[in-house]
Amino acid sequence: LFESKLELVRSHIRSFPDFPKKGIVFRDVCPILKNPAALAALTDLFEEHVRTSYQQVDLIVGENLKGTTSVLMEHGVLMLPAVPPGLDARGFLFGPLLAQRLGLGFVLIRKKGKLPGSTTSVTFDLEYGQAEVEIQDDVVDPGQKVLIIDDLLATGGTLCAAWELLKQQQAEVLGCLVVIELLDLQGKNKVKPLPVFSLTHY
Ligand code: PRP
Ligand code: ADE
Repeated sequence: LFESKLELVRSHIRSFPDFPKKGIVFRDVCPILKNPAALAALTDLFEEHVRTSYQQVDLIVGENLKGTTSVLMEHGVLMLPAVPPGLDARGFLFGPLLAQRLGLGFVLIRKKGKLPGSTTSVTFDLEYGQAEVEIQDDVVDPGQKVLIIDDLLATGGTLCAAWELLKQQQAEVLGCLVVIELLDLQGKNKVKPLPVFSLTHY
């Protein structure tokens, strides 16, 4: 069942050579969103991973799961890294679905200038130039256990910046979940020792 779900997800990732520039193979998650079965399979796989990997962690979360033994994190929040300037954040597409499954809240890390109120930001390097991501200062409590979720791990720069932001908020980052990992870029090394769970690899 695990394999068939994974295959369903994998078969709904499209690859576009030379986008957005020559030499890059763009891995497109849009077909997953268009197919309800693939999106459900993806959410199932993430949910299974979180439930099995974090079941030792001191428990409890959202109202609906309170008091049950299957609950995973104390006041857990699933967070998603914002993205370098330019396009909208593909990470936002998967996080809320998983958070709902787990009875957890979901908060945003966005590119700078998008979030109202008091915020903290972190600058990080892109292949060319820099980007800045930001979080609202009152959305994570000190000591709160969080998971970061995004569509894709490339160089790891985005995840590192999100991790740094969460550390500044004194959150305890337990790990990251991504749909796609680009192995050549060794993003996992960059985010070490943070555990990264990736569903598919290219
Ligand atoms: C992509 C992807 C990740 C990031 C990974 O975002 O969604 O957030 O790049 O790259 P890294 O590991 O090298 O940091 P992109 O900047 O394309 O923006 P988008 O999600 O808004 O499309
Ligand atoms: N973000 C960084 N590299 C990417 C790629 N190859 N495909 C899709 N999104 C990306």
